[in-house]
Amino acid sequence: MAENTGGIPRHVAIIMDGNGRWAKRRLLPRGAGHRAGMNRMIGLAEHIFDCGVAYCTLFALSTENLSRPQEELEGLFSLFRSYFPANTQRLKSKGIALRVIGDRALLPEDIVALIAEGERATAEGKRGTLVLAIGYGGRQDILAAVNEAVRRGKEVSMAEFEGMLSTGDLPAPDLLIRTGKELRISNFLLWQAAYSELYFTDVLFPDFSDVEFDRALAAYAKRERRFGKL
Ligand code: FPP
Repeated sequence: MAENTGGIPRHVAIIMDGNGRWAKRRLLPRGAGHRAGMNRMIGLAEHIFDCGVAYCTLFALSTENLSRPQEELEGLFSLFRSYFPANTQRLKSKGIALRVIGDRALLPEDIVALIAEGERATAEGKRGTLVLAIGYGGRQDILAAVNEAVRRGKEVSMAEFEGMLSTGDLPAPDLLIRTGKELRISNFLLWQAAYSELYFTDVLFPDFSDVEFDRALAAYAKRERRFGKL
């Protein structure tokens, strides 16, 4: 696990909540909120890496979100189809590697193909790693690792177990941000966030500006991280 105190977090994870409420306040359909969220996500990711963060994990769609009405899901997937290829190229040009975690069996086939192509195209990126969690659930991640350990047929160490999670080669998040007012983790990186510093804000995700992100960084810089020690 990453052992840094204050300063710039090496890994920031964000639960991007509040797109629906953002749209509702403007009397717009929920899809308009997701489009605004998508635009914000792209700008914010750029800012995050410019701040010196090396890993950024964004919770785009949980396993549970996949039970939303078909119309909303189709809207999200078509946003993904129209934004993803161009933004993959943008990440590539900035030296950012893209990774997607989550159960791809739950996603439409063409989305899975776009993800694979995006990961392939950016694999050489050395400046940072953008991890998109799509069809992701923390419990499901842990359960898959447990089943892998059972298949190996012997007890595993903590480090071996962590290596079996979908984030196996990534450091744990130092800072976990949730926008949109709710005070919960909602099945995000349950194992990985054991010692993450938590930051909750009422700001709805489409309004979560670079300045709001800088506020979260400033709050993080003041935290004293002890990892359970004195
Ligand atoms: C939560 O807001 C947000 C989501 C479920 C989706 C987040 C998606 C994006 C930021 C766009 C990018 C999408 C993909 C697939 C890459 P909410 O709808 O739960 O908001 P509410 O709580 O106000 O209803």
